[in-house]
Amino acid sequence: MSEVIFADRLQNLSGSIIREILKLTAQPDIISFAGGMPAPGTFPVKELQEAAVEAFTEFGPQMLQYGATEGYVPLRQWIADWLSKKGIKATVDNTLLISGSQQGLDLAVKAFINKGDTMFLENPTFLGAVQTFNTYEANLVAIDCDEHGMKMDALEKALQEQQPKLLYSIPTFQNPSGNTLPLERRKKLVELAAKYNFFIIEDDPYGWLRYHGEELPTLKALDKADKVIYLGSSSKIVAPGARVGWAIAQPDILRKMVIGKQAADVHTSNLSQYTLYNYLKRNVLDEHIAHICEEYRAKCDFMLEVMGKYFPKEATWNAPEGGLFIWITLPAGYNTTKILEEAVKDKVAFVPGSPFYVHGGGENTLRLNFSNSSMEQIETGIKKLGEVLAKTAV
Ligand SMILES: Cc1ncc(COP(=O)(O)O)c(C=O)c1O
Repeated sequence: MSEVIFADRLQNLSGSIIREILKLTAQPDIISFAGGMPAPGTFPVKELQEAAVEAFTEFGPQMLQYGATEGYVPLRQWIADWLSKKGIKATVDNTLLISGSQQGLDLAVKAFINKGDTMFLENPTFLGAVQTFNTYEANLVAIDCDEHGMKMDALEKALQEQQPKLLYSIPTFQNPSGNTLPLERRKKLVELAAKYNFFIIEDDPYGWLRYHGEELPTLKALDKADKVIYLGSSSKIVAPGARVGWAIAQPDILRKMVIGKQAADVHTSNLSQYTLYNYLKRNVLDEHIAHICEEYRAKCDFMLEVMGKYFPKEATWNAPEGGLFIWITLPAGYNTTKILEEAVKDKVAFVPGSPFYVHGGGENTLRLNFSNSSMEQIETGIKKLGEVLAKTAV
């Protein structure tokens, strides 16, 4: 067969290493702290089933017809009202429904980035986002982070040297680090976006999952100059299989994203949108989130406790105030990709940290997820992992 020549934009892209690890960990006897998956026990299965039946009964033909690219108006209105109560100025007109926030990343970058345009991002950052940015052949510039997220002095220095079109940030319970950007840095970041004229993609799938500490305003809530494209999602607070997220941005940006979405998938599945709306209109979401937080808080606290018991003394980690991840740093010389091979033999898995760094590094780091394991699995898995780390000590 003749050689298959793919597009340049995909030349340097491999599949997500996390997806590969997830395949590996699909074996039933493995305890996996690898994926960023919510606990299936938190999914409101019965309520969504009732909501779907109601949608078919009341709106069958309408729901099964094509819909508007912007999304189902009652759901846009509901999301806009809910976000407004949380300090984000959202209206139907500046709210676009998307097929998960992953699609929002794609549409925002599609709207702004030509090959070689500069984007700033956190280091380490979410791999799914980096894949999207690479697909559009963006010039990625990683800005230094510490345990409180992006360092504003490093950002200002970079801004004096280069002009980004977009800056990508997960300011609350970041993936993979679990870190949260403090209020002063949030204010500074939106101020710098206005001063240096770039847009911020604020990716906020975890923001409502807070277990400790004070709630902070989103960047969007602080955004007087309309420089923030806010992405939210039902994935971690209802169910990821629904594939419904939302983008809030000024209408001219949303218009471009709508055009991009038309070409991508016409609109987000009406079955999902109508079902989600019928569920949300019961006004149970805040209570549901409170239940999820209670469960995840207990798991997160317990994982931290058993890590203290079983991990080598030289390992350090953050205590996240929310989200799904704990980020671990081992002394230099450890290689967590190699350690993963050993760990999988012992039936425990995690995600090595290095793929989250866009310019390399982080070989001695790893990410653990606590939401999708039982307390018993957390105790057993962390003990095993502690033994693997002790065996592989350098
Ligand atoms: C930071 C971040 N952004 C976006 C996503 C994609 O989420 P969604 O299911 O809404 O597409 C994820 C998923 O894990 C994530 O961690």
